[in-house]
Amino acid sequence: MQAPYIQLKEIRLTFDKDQKDTIRRFSLNIKEGEFISIVGKSGCGKTSLLQMVAGMKKPTSGLITIGGHEVKEPVDELSYVFQKPILLEWKTILENVLLPLQLKRKLTERDTNKAKEMLDRVGLTDAIHKFPYECSGGMQSRVAIVRALLDKPQILLMDEPFSALDSFTRDQLHVQLNELIDTYKPTVLFVTHDLQEAFFLSDRIILLGGEPGRILQEYQVPFTRPRQKSILFDQSFYNFQQDMNERLQS
Ligand SMILES: Nc1ncnc2c1ncn2[C@@H]1O[C@H](COP(=O)(O)OP(=O)(O)OP(=O)(O)O)[C@@H](O)[C@H]1O
Ligand SMILES: [Mg+2]
Repeated sequence: MQAPYIQLKEIRLTFDKDQKDTIRRFSLNIKEGEFISIVGKSGCGKTSLLQMVAGMKKPTSGLITIGGHEVKEPVDELSYVFQKPILLEWKTILENVLLPLQLKRKLTERDTNKAKEMLDRVGLTDAIHKFPYECSGGMQSRVAIVRALLDKPQILLMDEPFSALDSFTRDQLHVQLNELIDTYKPTVLFVTHDLQEAFFLSDRIILLGGEPGRILQEYQVPFTRPRQKSILFDQSFYNFQQDMNERLQS
């Protein structure tokens, strides 16, 4: 059996030692290249989990390892896509995409060409010299995804990256994200409130319950990737949705 790439063992998180636990007894093994979605009600600890995997927040107890090494500080081989695209207004789209690399080392012509090629793949060729205020929300989300994938991170953490978008734009981005992920094959932890999105994109979906945040149920999506949107008409999607809604209401 393949050893887990990311391992969360008995994680507990409390913000104040006198307060109740925010997350309790959370354990999860993630394989290399797996796409995991985390769904759950607001406040159940989804963002906190991502932040702990990224090394931005320390669990109160328990252990997180990546590739067998304990996460103790911000993790280098990882990219984080936040709920809002967070672009620098005074830099062009191309400059925004290149910025994280530029902060690490001197940029090469190859980096610029790679960024242009990736922006082209998500339909942004005409936007590379525009500024963020000249781009729609959907275009900005694409920029954030390209920026996160440019340096081929081994791990991609995404916190509701499409929640502010209309369903048509979201549909388009799902297909483009799938294509990029099939090319770069990162291990993905993806937070969402959208069950269609979770089912279409993930290998596994983790339902988190609140107070304290803990795993209520785990679902394996019975389709290999890459996928067609038609899987959302399959009976397995209706069963998943029904089970999920019942568990969220109980
Ligand atoms: N720095 C902090 N100090 C104290 N409490 C915090 C802190 N950060 C988060 N919390 C609390 O921890 C709980 C989980 O927060 P978190 O942001 O992880 O939830 P979430 O599941 O991502 O919610 P949402 O779906 O609304 O984004 C919430 O009750 C929140 O108020
Ligand atoms: Mg959150």
